Amino acid sequence: MASNKTVFISGGASGIGYLCGECYAKEGANVVLLDINEKALNECVEKIKEITDNVMGCVVDVLDYAQVERARDEAVARFGSIDILIVTAGGAETRLKNAYAPDFTEVDIEVVDFGLDLNLKGTLHVDHAVMRQMAKQGSGVVVNLGSITGEEGCPVNVAYSASKSALMNGVVKSLAMCGGKHGIRAVCVAPGPVLTRPGMANMKTLMGRAAETQEIVDMIMYVASDKGAFITGTTILMDGGRNVLRNK
Ligand SMILES: NC(=O)c1ccc[n+]([C@@H]2O[C@H](COP(=O)([O-])OP(=O)(O)OC[C@H]3O[C@@H](n4cnc5c(N)ncnc54)[C@H](O)[C@@H]3O)[C@@H](O)[C@H]2O)c1
Repeated sequence: MASNKTVFISGGASGIGYLCGECYAKEGANVVLLDINEKALNECVEKIKEITDNVMGCVVDVLDYAQVERARDEAVARFGSIDILIVTAGGAETRLKNAYAPDFTEVDIEVVDFGLDLNLKGTLHVDHAVMRQMAKQGSGVVVNLGSITGEEGCPVNVAYSASKSALMNGVVKSLAMCGGKHGIRAVCVAPGPVLTRPGMANMKTLMGRAAETQEIVDMIMYVASDKGAFITGTTILMDGGRNVLRNK
């Protein structure tokens, strides 16, 4: 159980990030939600307040490191530590920018830059700011979100695929190597399609379905718990077997 632990969640106003916040609140944790979408963030904080008063929302653009640091400092001032970090802010650049294109050659370079910035740089900003605090504490767990797209590639969202590959390989290994001497574990959970949006149900898997958001959250909470104490420097691919499917 995560009772009295503090969980810091980027992208906490939607999907996997929000459900993590709700589930940790039910376990008695202190919950800090970061999101760029102020309206959705306020609504999510109000919903979690029905479970616990120990919740706070911070309007943060993860691309702005100073904003991330401010949120970290506010969380530590209120709750004393950050024990679990979950980085979910991210997504495919052409979807987020409403810039659909048949392939990479037709995606504007500004959209490509945005995809790299949000998914790779934004994640590293949050990891870096929070790991500084965890190193002072001598403990913590970092969970970044990868994606099946980081494993199989994508002809359109190349920046998303490249960023997720990095998180699933070089980043998780490097953070674990750095974190070891500070008592910090680093894990990447990489989902296949998840029903945070109805459209994800169309993506094929070996199981013939997409994941429920709760299934991904359960895995995140497992790896971040003491039951996952021997897991670090690795990626858990949770894709319903999509990676072994032929004829996708
Ligand atoms: N849903 C899926 O099918 C799926 C599959 C594989 C991987 N993933 C990954 O899991 C993570 C969560 O996915 P989801 O479907 O729950 O996402 P989501 O789109 O529901 O939520 C993402 C949240 O991040 C916030 N955000 C976006 N840009 C931000 C910024 N610059 N600063 C701060 N917050 C920002 C958004 O406002 C949103 O609330 C993502 O990293 C995604 O790539 C999702």
